[in-house]
Amino acid sequence: MDIQKVMFSGAVEEKSEEAWEAMDMFASYRELLEMDHLHNAAIRELQIKLETLNDEFRIKFERSPIHHIESRLKSKASIVKKLMDRGAEVSLEAARRSINDIAGVRVVCCYIDDVYSVADMLLRQSDIKLIKRQDYIEEPNYNGYRSLHLDIQVPIYLSDRTEYVSVEVQLRTVAMDFWASLEHDLRYKSGKHPPQEISEELLACSHEIAELDRRMQEMYKRIQAL
Ligand code: GTP
Ligand code: MG
Repeated sequence: MDIQKVMFSGAVEEKSEEAWEAMDMFASYRELLEMDHLHNAAIRELQIKLETLNDEFRIKFERSPIHHIESRLKSKASIVKKLMDRGAEVSLEAARRSINDIAGVRVVCCYIDDVYSVADMLLRQSDIKLIKRQDYIEEPNYNGYRSLHLDIQVPIYLSDRTEYVSVEVQLRTVAMDFWASLEHDLRYKSGKHPPQEISEELLACSHEIAELDRRMQEMYKRIQAL
């Protein structure tokens, strides 16, 4: 069986004889399990860090800067596709080395200031290594996408060593999340690129959402000052 078919069909999880054989060509099943284990552990570590910060805020200030947290492990199919799109070798080693978002955590915050304070609080933690910071709020993407992206590494303490595991953290407001989720849905439904008039309307919606975020933040500050 073709290794790519195995990866795309998700047959890794079905323990058929064929899948086991094909997996041997890519890497041992144990290595694949180890990779999942490391990335799952990194997601859990980050979730605990973020929940701890949120709980502290609730106690001190009677409010939560984080509205909710989502996380996901990139599917094997997407990992293989990303490597193939880049013309890279399809191996676990190449995936670990070059794909920064095998583990992804999305932090949806209430107000814009919360996005930056949660990011700062996280990056102040001495065991977190910042690899790359992309501020699509300060400078939105061409299509209107807004979020703060942090590519970080989190230490995972194993029985005989410490592994620094990459995680892509996306921080955004509820409004930015609403826009990004629906834009993704519309783009998915229209193939790679939506028609121009839809793209223009999406960009206009992104501006409106940014204005709403600004007004919400401003109202929050006014309430605080009462
Ligand atoms: P990577 O190495 O893949 O991180 O490349 P990059 O740094 O150029 O990508 P970037 O960090 O800009 O985007 C990574 C992720 O952000 C995507 O997988 C999406 O989840 C999200 N994202 C980026 N741009 C958009 C966008 O225009 N719309 C939506 N809905 N999501 C986006
Ligand atoms: Mg990125």
